[in-house]
Amino acid sequence: MTAPRVGILMGSDSDWPKINKVAEALKEFGVEYEVNVMSAHRTPHAVAEYATSAEERGIGVIIAAAGGAAHLAGVVAAHTVLPVIGIPVPTAELGGMDSLLATVQMPGDVPVVSVAVGMGGPRNAGLFAVQILATADPELRTAFHAFKDRLVTKIKRKNTEFQSLIGKQDASHAS
Ligand code: RP5
Repeated sequence: MTAPRVGILMGSDSDWPKINKVAEALKEFGVEYEVNVMSAHRTPHAVAEYATSAEERGIGVIIAAAGGAAHLAGVVAAHTVLPVIGIPVPTAELGGMDSLLATVQMPGDVPVVSVAVGMGGPRNAGLFAVQILATADPELRTAFHAFKDRLVTKIKRKNTEFQSLIGKQDASHAS
């Protein structure tokens, strides 16, 4: 096993079921990652230590998931020059709008990019991390081209199946 290139942090273990597609996306591309539970509010010193030392440990991208007062991605970004991707975790109380705003409304000079709340957000966080690493990794770049090609093939097949289904429905309605 090689050293992890992506560090995934989440504010609570309760976030994992909502964001674990981030890991699936990384696995698809064979990108090594590590996952840790760390909170900007509950374990602030651990977060600062992690973010500060990530670069020298070979981490290339940090993905930070948190819900509610979701300051994790911003605090990580404050302590590192590595690119930080925030995943705003859906919440029961405010539907994740709280997480989204807390993640994305960063002041100038401290960038954090945010993926969507729910939907494809966690998967896109993983894919975006791969794309960032691919800027300096020709093999990953080639793999991402192949991924895009597979996507086109998949959607074309779905359209063919859909057209055939619609055709059958039309036929049954007509009879
Ligand atoms: C945030 O508070 C976590 O990221 C999580 O989304 C939320 C609730 O955490 P728990 O109370 O379930 O540990 O910091």
